Amino acid sequence: MATLGSKSKSVWYCTSCGNEYSKWMGRCPACGEWNAMVEKTLETGVTKARNTAAGSVRAPQQLSDISSSAEQRISLGYAEVDRVLGGGIVPGSLVLIGGEPGIGKSTLSLQIPLACPDLETLYVTGEESARQVKMRADRLGGSAPHCHIFSETCIDDVLDQAAQMKPALMVVDSVQTMYTSAADSTPGSVSQVKEVASALLRFAKESGIAVILIGHITKDGYIAGPKVLEHIVDVVLQFEGENRGAYRILRSIKNRFGSTSELAVFEMTAAGLREVPNPSEILIPMHEEGLSGTAIGTTLDGTRPLLFEVQALVSSAVYGTAQRSATGFDSRRLNMLLAVLEKRAGFRLGAKDVFLNIAGGLKVSDPACDLAVICAVLSSNFDYPLPSDVCFAAEVGLSGEIRPVAQTERRIAEASRLGFKKIYISSYSKLDKLPQSDIKIVKVSGIPALVKELFK
Ligand code: TYD
Ligand code: MG
Repeated sequence: MATLGSKSKSVWYCTSCGNEYSKWMGRCPACGEWNAMVEKTLETGVTKARNTAAGSVRAPQQLSDISSSAEQRISLGYAEVDRVLGGGIVPGSLVLIGGEPGIGKSTLSLQIPLACPDLETLYVTGEESARQVKMRADRLGGSAPHCHIFSETCIDDVLDQAAQMKPALMVVDSVQTMYTSAADSTPGSVSQVKEVASALLRFAKESGIAVILIGHITKDGYIAGPKVLEHIVDVVLQFEGENRGAYRILRSIKNRFGSTSELAVFEMTAAGLREVPNPSEILIPMHEEGLSGTAIGTTLDGTRPLLFEVQALVSSAVYGTAQRSATGFDSRRLNMLLAVLEKRAGFRLGAKDVFLNIAGGLKVSDPACDLAVICAVLSSNFDYPLPSDVCFAAEVGLSGEIRPVAQTERRIAEASRLGFKKIYISSYSKLDKLPQSDIKIVKVSGIPALVKELFK
């Protein structure tokens, strides 16, 4: 009878990937690891009791009774970081900054307390010694009298310290180096990473301390790390860019307190990361002489319009099958646009290699980029440079029609601000009030008309 009453259940979980199974297996079907299963007893009764206890504290409130006064936010000293977060970090939130090793996550998270000398910060480092952090801080310049460095990898000790110290902000670098005694596996395994993040989330919510958690991702974007954490944390920011290039892009992927299409551009200099408040200006090179195969497109970064350069190279396929490759742009979308050019405008691109690149390490997914992509491809195909003062903002449909895109007015205004003389948009666009500017708006309805107009 006693056994029936005790509500405990056994599961087996893989210490390498964290997947759970109802029975033991020699090899984990998910990650292929041998001999990694351990048994875990779930006390369902206890969990229930805890949930009711926590639940009884709060009662449902009427929507109209909930005060909607603006959330309090903490500025992190960098206007661009604050903007990506939706106006600063929210106290009690857990923000994950993911990125490849060496991209600058530690640098950015150390620059924040250096830029906010009055912010009480606990900087927990599991990767570097306190001395190494100090040396880096010296190199970055600035002093942060209220920043405490704690070199520790046991998250339970970290949380004890933080609970005593009560900082306004805590940085944990990185989730992969932290471990908790609540999970048996090695630091960095999925079950550890999940436990550590859940512990930090609970701590952030209970204490009201804002927490920035750093996580590494590999080239293919998946390891025990940020991918499995995305649903646990409140905000996911991704730090990306070419390692050798100077520019870094901080992009918001998930944000419970703001929009998710914001991005900020930073430049890595000898004295750390520097904000680039006007990214369009660096994304479009100012080459005077005409080069074939480039076109300027527009995209929206959250609410801010951004201009960028598309580069295309079209050449005869040497090895039989034509190659298509796209960097910063969806390659299926590229194939679709090439098919549209072939079928609707009669360009024989089937036997040509097509390479496409979005300059500056930017990734674009806005349909408004289509027209710029098509024009860059045609320009390279004809070896005919486009004028350097024209840009494009339209989607291309499957029947070769040129379609209107969202917020065309903002794109026009940004192009005009940057000194462009002409912008091609869809003839189906309905524009409302346009700011005074001398940019010429050319409306086109289909690819044949566009080709006639551009490649005379
Ligand atoms: P880091 O911030 O340690 O990257 P992560 O924490 O994401 O692994 O690394 C930054 C890289 O940037 C490193 O290769 C050195 C370089 N760097 C600079 O160019 N200038 C600087 O001022 C600093 C601190 C680093
Ligand atoms: Mg680091």
